[in-house]
Amino acid sequence: MNHEKIEKNVNLMAILIVVVISIGGLIELVPLMLSADATEAYEGVEPYPALQLAGRDIYVREGCYGCHSQQIRPFRSETERYGPYSVAGEFVYDRPFQFGSKRTGPDLARVGKRYSDDWHRIHMLNPRDVVPESNMPSYPWLANAEVDGELVAAKMRALRLLGDPYTDADIENAAAAVAGKTEMDALINYLQNLGTVRSAR
Ligand code: HEC
Repeated sequence: MNHEKIEKNVNLMAILIVVVISIGGLIELVPLMLSADATEAYEGVEPYPALQLAGRDIYVREGCYGCHSQQIRPFRSETERYGPYSVAGEFVYDRPFQFGSKRTGPDLARVGKRYSDDWHRIHMLNPRDVVPESNMPSYPWLANAEVDGELVAAKMRALRLLGDPYTDADIENAAAAVAGKTEMDALINYLQNLGTVRSAR
């Protein structure tokens, strides 16, 4: 008869549903949050240097994740096309992560070093110039906008508060590292390093 009480009381039912789902969620999430595999950097993975950090934020701002995933699943069809499957430790310095959920274009988790900087430059200005059938948008404004060095340093300070091991020197040198660089340079620098630590093995 207890069950009948629950079925006839929508408020009680709602509360119990939340309780049950919360327990299920915690059982899935908590062990992952405590597991070293998911929280410690993969060997050789470092916090993003200044120019890559600036490039990553441009990637987020332009919404590249709407068409590109950064997550190679452990299936043969994926590893043959993109390279070694992704592991959690490769993404510990990604805030927010860019796994994505839609592949209108290819996965980019290991696109680093696959093309030359010049290829990327032409591709960003007008994808059709290198891939005639491409439906990727052009991003010509990136070539005209300069990266703001003070902003990059401020972002590094914020990330350090969250636990990313940036040194004082990293932060002091950030503005100099991006001086005179365009947003295009930064984005290409970011792309050229994507996934290279693990794919080198
Ligand atoms: C509307 C969907 C769409 C958006 C948004 C988009 N792309 Fe693409 N992208 C594609 C498609 C489709 C391809 C495959 C054809 C080509 O190479 O142009 C592609 C290809 C690429 C490639 C080559 C990958 C490879 O392995 O050959 C790179 C690099 C890339 N995109 C980067 C970006 C970046 C950086 C952004 C954001 C500034 C972006 N894309 C936004 C659709 C998109």
